Amino acid sequence: MKLSHEDRASIDFVLTLRRRWADAMYPALRAQYDARTKERGPRDRKGAAPVVHALPSYRWFAWMERGSQKMLWRAVSDAVARNGKARAVPAGPARLELDASLELPDWYTDWDIHVQPGGVWKGDASADVYELGAKLVMLGVNDDYTFHRAFVQTAVPPRDYRRIVDLGCGFGKSTWPFKRAFPEAEVIGVDLAAPCLALAAERASAQGLDIRFRQADCARTGLEDGSADLVTSTMLVHEMPRPHLEATLREAARLLAPGGLLRFLDFTWTGDAFRDVALAEHGARNNEPFMPGSMGADMGALCRKAGLEDARWVAFDERGGGRLERLEWPERPEWHFPWAVLEARRPA
Ligand SMILES: C[S@@+](CC[C@H](N)C(=O)[O-])C[C@H]1O[C@@H](n2cnc3c(N)ncnc32)[C@H](O)[C@@H]1O
Repeated sequence: MKLSHEDRASIDFVLTLRRRWADAMYPALRAQYDARTKERGPRDRKGAAPVVHALPSYRWFAWMERGSQKMLWRAVSDAVARNGKARAVPAGPARLELDASLELPDWYTDWDIHVQPGGVWKGDASADVYELGAKLVMLGVNDDYTFHRAFVQTAVPPRDYRRIVDLGCGFGKSTWPFKRAFPEAEVIGVDLAAPCLALAAERASAQGLDIRFRQADCARTGLEDGSADLVTSTMLVHEMPRPHLEATLREAARLLAPGGLLRFLDFTWTGDAFRDVALAEHGARNNEPFMPGSMGADMGALCRKAGLEDARWVAFDERGGGRLERLEWPERPEWHFPWAVLEARRPA
């Protein structure tokens, strides 16, 4: 999207504010916390929360987190309203499979996810707003989708996949790299949001990518039993309530052929009490109410119950390095998500 100077200026302002929050306010809050707890710190996030709430910069930090997120959507919505264009019917190879009878779950429609007004599903423009906003949410460091390419390149073993299913594909940035990496595979993106799927198909067609974008719930995809060799998701797990997460794992197990792989990119607790408080509260301030519940789930047990084996989390460095061998992240002072890959497989 070509932006006017005015739109560019307001987006740059919000981006600068968010970078300041992440790069300066978060480390300052951390320094205050470390100073308060240097004798003997709380062991977990429940114990740490009251200490964090009493820190001098906490209110500023919390307000800036939610306030700048609201400003972000305002700036982006205005830009899309002024500069956006009508959705084009995909003229290339991508296919769009919309289901007009699909009822969206209440837990999905009741919340404006990420504080985006109307969420990602309410009108055609919501997908364009989400696309532009996603770049700002990632603080401008994922403009070329390095994060999603690193996932495909480092967390998914090279194989002759016949079918790859990307659950919660959004506007397709997690799905396109799979088709590029595995051009022989049939690649299917599944999402509830029709506007996102339409944008995903338009962008895929423009890149010459033959991908099916299917409107369905990831817990009931309607795809055939045992038809996929790889089921993936990025940034989906923490958005669902626990029962839906369990149903999604069962669906993934049903879709996978024997020996097929599950790779879900999301985040998990770090065990660092301060960081985990900041993360849980990020979920609350960012309208992601199911985050603590899904992050607290015993994924090993849930995967086993769903019929999957060898489940484990490994850390993921989104700056390009991608999958790490263990659940340990490199030290970094600035605010960032503790990204991690859930790996499991269907028994052979
Ligand atoms: C944070 S976005 C991630 C999109 C994409 N995977 C990416 O990495 O850019 C989460 C997506 O999951 C979708 N979603 C949430 N719950 C879903 C469900 N039960 N079934 C299908 N899609 C779902 C949302 O509509 C949204 O597009």
